[in-house]
Amino acid sequence: MKTMYGVYEAKWLKHYSSDHEILLVGEGDFSFSFSLAKAFGSAFNMVATSLDSYELVIKKYQRARTNLQTLSECGAQLLHGVDATRMKLHPDLQWRKFDRIIYNFPHAGFSGKEDNQLVIGKHRSLVRGFFENASHMLRPGGEVHVSHKTTGPFQNWRIEELASKSFLTLLECVEFKISDYPSYQNKRGDGSRPDDAFPLGKCSTFKFILSSTSKKSNIPHHILNNNHQQQFVNPCVPNDCVWIFKEYFDQACLMFGKDDYYLCHSVRVMLEKVFERCNITNPVNPMNDYLNHVKELRDLSNRRIVYLQNRLREIDHQFGL
Ligand SMILES: C[S@@+](CC[C@H](N)C(=O)[O-])C[C@H]1O[C@@H](n2cnc3c(N)ncnc32)[C@H](O)[C@@H]1O
Repeated sequence: MKTMYGVYEAKWLKHYSSDHEILLVGEGDFSFSFSLAKAFGSAFNMVATSLDSYELVIKKYQRARTNLQTLSECGAQLLHGVDATRMKLHPDLQWRKFDRIIYNFPHAGFSGKEDNQLVIGKHRSLVRGFFENASHMLRPGGEVHVSHKTTGPFQNWRIEELASKSFLTLLECVEFKISDYPSYQNKRGDGSRPDDAFPLGKCSTFKFILSSTSKKSNIPHHILNNNHQQQFVNPCVPNDCVWIFKEYFDQACLMFGKDDYYLCHSVRVMLEKVFERCNITNPVNPMNDYLNHVKELRDLSNRRIVYLQNRLREIDHQFGL
């Protein structure tokens, strides 16, 4: 949205912003992704995934086809057959990093009573595998969000403990209210009635960040500590390509689909910043990181082309061409 001063402002829905790169995992009928896209007025910043194939998703859920169509028209990247416990190796995801990775109501399927230890073990192993993968896919300052029921056998999943095994630490736990996400419909996802909602009862969104004591994490402490501000206050980060390129890529994403002076100006200013930072961090070498960013940029460009083609088709359609 453009303000009276010509500055673009991010749009927010609850914890999520149109400025975040968002990965959604284990979607049901894709109505949560749809809800975010509607609030943002676009979905270029989103990769929405399901474990099920496209065919199975539209067979299982009545509204899935429409939700997916809208998401695609809004620029989302849609992936099916994505296993949360292996996703960091997925060809379309292995180079990507995200500000928010969201898995709402993870559940490994109905294979017995929810208080059965074997069943709980299956759910825990799904969530554990998800955390392990997600922990490798975060941008600096990024968060992993799991919404989960907090009563009965569900509290025995002990998701904080599972997260800690992947060096993820609880940032906060806030009440999950479905009314915060218009159009979202929580789905059972399995069994004979996958399209039915399950009773939510008391539930929360658990937000995790990479622990600052993580041996795996190469994230500078000043970034972790400034998680909410998402600012990079200390320029002395050797060989940190993320630090060098972050604002440039953020700005490029934000400006996609926009025109006028601010587009050229702001992206150029950010490129100048990249240049300055390259000079500060000398030598900057990790070729892989550069390649990752270039791939990200290429991916965004491809999605933009699809979006523009869809828009042109819509306009043709409106004029009966
Ligand atoms: C209770 S449903 C919740 C669906 C959706 N997130 C929602 O909030 O409506 C659990 C979801 O987890 C998915 N799921 C189960 N195992 C998975 C795995 N290994 N990787 C990704 N998703 C998985 C199922 O396909 C199902 O969509």
